[in-house]
Amino acid sequence: MDLKGRDFLKLLDFTPEEIAYLVDLAADLKDKKKKGIPVDNFRGKNVALIFEKTSTRTRCSFEVAAHDLGMGTTYLDPSGSQIGKKESIADTARVLAGMFEGIEYRGYGQEIVEELAKYSKVPVWNGLTNEFHPTQMLADLLTIKEHFGDYKGIKLTYMGDARYNMGNSLMVTCAKMGMHFTACTSPKYFPDEALVKECEAIAATTGGSITLTDDVKAGTSGANVIYTDVWVSMGEPDEIWEERIHDLLPYQVNKAAMDNADANAIFLHCLPAFHDLDTKIGKEISKKFGINEMEVTDEVFESAQSLVFEEAENRMHTIKAVMAATL
Ligand code: CP
Ligand code: NVA
Repeated sequence: MDLKGRDFLKLLDFTPEEIAYLVDLAADLKDKKKKGIPVDNFRGKNVALIFEKTSTRTRCSFEVAAHDLGMGTTYLDPSGSQIGKKESIADTARVLAGMFEGIEYRGYGQEIVEELAKYSKVPVWNGLTNEFHPTQMLADLLTIKEHFGDYKGIKLTYMGDARYNMGNSLMVTCAKMGMHFTACTSPKYFPDEALVKECEAIAATTGGSITLTDDVKAGTSGANVIYTDVWVSMGEPDEIWEERIHDLLPYQVNKAAMDNADANAIFLHCLPAFHDLDTKIGKEISKKFGINEMEVTDEVFESAQSLVFEEAENRMHTIKAVMAATL
């Protein structure tokens, strides 16, 4: 498998075999890290990490993974560069490609990261856009594979805002890997129809399937993985909280949803999560709307079924695999 020089912008661009290769490479790199076997044969290389939105996991994963591989990193924060304000994406791509061997980009529209890749002669990695979060998908697949031994045939139910980066990406991932994806939410939050059609066509070739339902009982029944994400994503206005709480509270991941899933079901969440009042926004929302937990209850988040911290760790191993494979 040779992915050298490839961009990593969305999983739609990769074959199931290529995706499986990246997950397996990540498992191998994780094993080596645990055993203290260094894999640092990328010494002398440098990567640029552009973050137009904030991050904990993705930034730390890119930095730790790059350092483990022997590389240097430069972090460009949401306000500290010329990008988009004084310099176009096309010019930024050509400047950075002259200094770095790879570029990570987190920001708004998918078209921005696609444009960056078009003008960059070095690989560009998508660290999250409004539409897709592909590095998160590899971490989720690794977590599922570690737990269930395989991902083929796994039933994954996504509850909440299914028409944004996480819902879209999980639907694509399930279609590609022969998994059964269910978006269990209000029809207002179903993924884009064209993307659903594209995923259905892919799923028809892999043995996967796509289901959209607003029925919690039917949607969670027999699921192996219950997945959710924040109800209001980065870059969305605060004014929409009220509407989202109203629309999505019926699709909160709580004990009833988990109990209706398969007896051995696991809970995943890309994080950060609003499951208690220990955050500034959590406290503000509680004061304003009287709810103490949002997309997932604290009971489920802290339960033995919740693998969210294993999943978070796997961000680093899988991002390392993406850089090692494409550089
Ligand atoms: N899951 C995820 O992308 O987390 P960060 O926003 O902290 O990077
Ligand atoms: N949907 C979330 C994902 C965060 C990892 C957001 O875009 O903010």
